[in-house]
Amino acid sequence: MTIWPPKPEDLHRPAYRSLADVITRAIKAGELNEGDRLPTHRDLAFKLNLSVQTVSRSYDELVRRGVVLGEVGRGTFVRSQRSDTQTPFLPESQYGAIVDCSMLKPVFEALHLDAMRDGLAKMSLDLPASAASSFRPSRALGTYGNTSRKWLARCGLETSSEGLILTNGNTSAMTIALMTTASPGDLIVTEGIGHHALKPLCRYLGLRLAGLGVDADGVIPEAFTRICQKTKVSALYLMPAGLNPKAYTMSRERRIELVNLARRFDVSIIENDAWGPLQPNRTAPIATLAPERTFYFTSLTKCIMPGLRFGYLVVPEAYESAAENRHLVTNWMATSLMSELACRWIEDGTAEDLLQWQMTALGERNQLAADILSDIPFNASENGLHIWLPTPETWSEEAFVAHTRLNGVAIASGSSFKMSDDVKDSGARICLGAESIESLKQGLMVISRLARSNPEPALQTF
Ligand SMILES: Cc1ncc(COP(=O)(O)O)c(C=O)c1O
Repeated sequence: MTIWPPKPEDLHRPAYRSLADVITRAIKAGELNEGDRLPTHRDLAFKLNLSVQTVSRSYDELVRRGVVLGEVGRGTFVRSQRSDTQTPFLPESQYGAIVDCSMLKPVFEALHLDAMRDGLAKMSLDLPASAASSFRPSRALGTYGNTSRKWLARCGLETSSEGLILTNGNTSAMTIALMTTASPGDLIVTEGIGHHALKPLCRYLGLRLAGLGVDADGVIPEAFTRICQKTKVSALYLMPAGLNPKAYTMSRERRIELVNLARRFDVSIIENDAWGPLQPNRTAPIATLAPERTFYFTSLTKCIMPGLRFGYLVVPEAYESAAENRHLVTNWMATSLMSELACRWIEDGTAEDLLQWQMTALGERNQLAADILSDIPFNASENGLHIWLPTPETWSEEAFVAHTRLNGVAIASGSSFKMSDDVKDSGARICLGAESIESLKQGLMVISRLARSNPEPALQTF
């Protein structure tokens, strides 16, 4: 007996859930496949003697379950049912076997491990009782406010906001920001090539996501205007300071334009500033231009060391308690031992020393990339952790990434960062921090050689 399409008598009350169940079973049974477009709300309502609202509610339920995807203006499609474990970077370290430029990491050397060991040893001598005993976030973390403001000022964000949340890094902050600004079914818009974790996270939270066109300065204001005129947008998610895979740094003028539009259409802004103060003469964060609607986050994982899993989320005043509550129910609070260590380092200057060291190391690595790639066009940002290499003319993206890998170098394919299927950019993200400088040099030389070569005909479509 076939499940799809159902007949009116196959449905029970409540009809919206019964219809969602039937569609879910049809997908599991392979009667509906990845990419299939579901009928329009109106057509299906007519065929099943239901109201259009019931079908809409049913489709919203399917988005929430993560089995279909609503694409603004195009319809509702069956999602890929593959496992969620695909990441742009290698899942396992293959140290020594491959030059791994796929993962966004700051440079890490023996001095970082020494600093961590030393910091932990000192902390063991005079750890405050509250860091070990309290379940109350304000008691365990309450003394760190001024130190936190110091670091945020270092990122260009002077804030006296009460809405300052200490987090276990960026990922936790972005989850709280999304949960606070949007409810299941709401639409988030972002850079067409964007943050790889945003796509699955929106799916798990039942949010719709649309990628917008970008130019060399970031999201194109007209693209943002068009979508806001068409439909309600809850939040604009941006990575304006070099960390977008395409490595652009958004100008102050573009930031102001987008802020004005966000005000006009009443859209929240989520600003991912994961690298914090790595850029020396940084443009002021968007949060300084629109504190009333910007959720700003940064962390120490990308600019000091990965193991210092600690960061900040600054939320607009009107959302303080909503955001705190969402933090509480997802994480309870930032891990107090990490918070203690990070704040000690900010106070005693260790964080600043490690930051300066990182800036110098990344400056050298960016120079190395520029020297080796030389006349091959690529995008970079000052002291950036990665570069973006547009796919060389004679290659397809897939073939270039795969062939680089066959030659012992892992890079992240641009398609892993596509936020909508219609995004045209083709390229690869090449991370500069994860390997020793000698391995990075080798890796860049392989990439440079391949980019200048023609693929064998059999590899063109790989
Ligand atoms: C753009 C971007 N933001 C944030 C993160 C994660 O930051 P954290 O390690 O602090 O959670 C990543 C991780 O790769 C990232 O690529």
